[in-house]
Amino acid sequence: MVTVKAIAGNIVEADVDTIVVNLFEGVTTPSGGTGAVDKALDGAISSLIADGEIKGKVSEVTRIHTFGKLTAKRVVVLGLGKVDQFSVDIVRMVSGDLARYLRRIGAKRAVTLAHGAGIGGLAPDVSGQAIAEGAILGLYRFRNYRKQDDEADKELEELHVVEQEQSKLDALNAGISVGQTLAESTIISRNLVNEPANVMTPIRMAEIAQEVASEVGLGYKALVREDMVQKGMGAILAVTAGSAQEPRLIILEYKGDPGHPDNNLALVGKGITFDTGGISIKPSANMWEMKGDMAGGASVIGAMRAIAILKPKLNVFGVVPAVENMPSGTAQRPGDIIRAMNGKSIEVDNTDAEGRLVLADAICYAKEDLGARRVVDIATLTGAMVTALGHVASGVMGKSQSMVDVLQASKATGEKMWQLPMFDEYREQIKSDWADVKNTGVRGAGSITAAFFISEFAEGADWAHLDIAGTFLSDKDRGHLVKGASGIPVRTLVKLAQDLATAK
Ligand code: BES
Ligand code: MN
Ligand code: ZN
Repeated sequence: MVTVKAIAGNIVEADVDTIVVNLFEGVTTPSGGTGAVDKALDGAISSLIADGEIKGKVSEVTRIHTFGKLTAKRVVVLGLGKVDQFSVDIVRMVSGDLARYLRRIGAKRAVTLAHGAGIGGLAPDVSGQAIAEGAILGLYRFRNYRKQDDEADKELEELHVVEQEQSKLDALNAGISVGQTLAESTIISRNLVNEPANVMTPIRMAEIAQEVASEVGLGYKALVREDMVQKGMGAILAVTAGSAQEPRLIILEYKGDPGHPDNNLALVGKGITFDTGGISIKPSANMWEMKGDMAGGASVIGAMRAIAILKPKLNVFGVVPAVENMPSGTAQRPGDIIRAMNGKSIEVDNTDAEGRLVLADAICYAKEDLGARRVVDIATLTGAMVTALGHVASGVMGKSQSMVDVLQASKATGEKMWQLPMFDEYREQIKSDWADVKNTGVRGAGSITAAFFISEFAEGADWAHLDIAGTFLSDKDRGHLVKGASGIPVRTLVKLAQDLATAK
């Protein structure tokens, strides 16, 4: 993995293969580090700007060969876009795009400036964090099964952020270190999602959670089928009934405020390791995407790792029901009536609405056995979410507006979220003729009726729900995202825990 680090010095003198400087759109006479490099290159950068070759658009890269004028073989000018549209999200994005570009052109050791820490107005730690997140996440590739791709032998080894002002160095490095923790934790989540379902079974997911727990010192425990029977988790048991894979309920525990056990938060993530739909089977086109139907659970495992390292002052539980949803002679049927851990009966109208079933028992467990006071669940829950918000934003719903509001944390992380309403009228749809509640609605607003179903099992806790069905995958390389699992919303969950720890 690339090493990101801030060092003091003059960027012109850097003894590396590639120097990266930056440029806002519309600037004709570069100043600061870019200006110094321009001077050393006898005005090459400013004359390329004058010629219109360099515009400074977001993620624009221009390569200039130095031919002995500098120790470095080449200079790359990176565009930051317009100053008035600049933000930390731009830094994360250009850093990801830049890192992949550097790898493609064969750079191994590069230096860059702290984007935005000058006229961009960002605090040095904020800039450093975004540079590290962008570079590490942007360079991520899932190569467990295919090592022979075009750039297999290319690796950007080192990206140093050169800062002339010694006083900013500590803050820069502190930000970089947080960014690295968050990026590495996001990568754990991405790997879990990208692994195929024949490998990433419930048992394998539990093993990885255990490895993460021992790496960073989290409590770990997993319930097996017999425990579920004993606790009356009829909803998880109904979903697993058709599968040959043994289910697990994974529990991770971080004790950040042991003196105040009630100062807690449970992150509950849907962990369907494959969703065929069950007897209400899905069409085969794009069914492969359902290997990632455990993305909510994967984000919880990733976030718990970062939380253990960054140590916010509150107690956090990670709860992941890891189950496979398959059709078979032992599978549950539409029309079956089951009972969740809290005693509520559920009419299973559609076996493909399985996520809300496993979440029901997992949330009951978090409240009743762990004593969770606040609950955020994260799930690839409804196709309707993709219809509503596409692949741009995750949906947020909840009965507790204060919990929904804390998810404003997403504004700092760039993981876009948007609230959908929980008007009482929508609840009508999940009324059952036979049971306390039915697992599907009939008409529109499928994401909201799903949230209403979950709310039946979240009573008594401050609860919010995140539907990541449209955001857990990225269809292309863009900034810190690469094709495949996005790792959303790991960074927001960590920020949420940090915000709750400091709010009073
Ligand atoms: N895992 C799916 C939802 C999903 C679809 C996630 C596409 C990501 C991409 C979920 O279990 C599901 O099948 N939901 C059904 C619910 C319906 C039966 C009420 C859906 O959305 O069609
Ligand atoms: Mn389903
Ligand atoms: Zn599902």
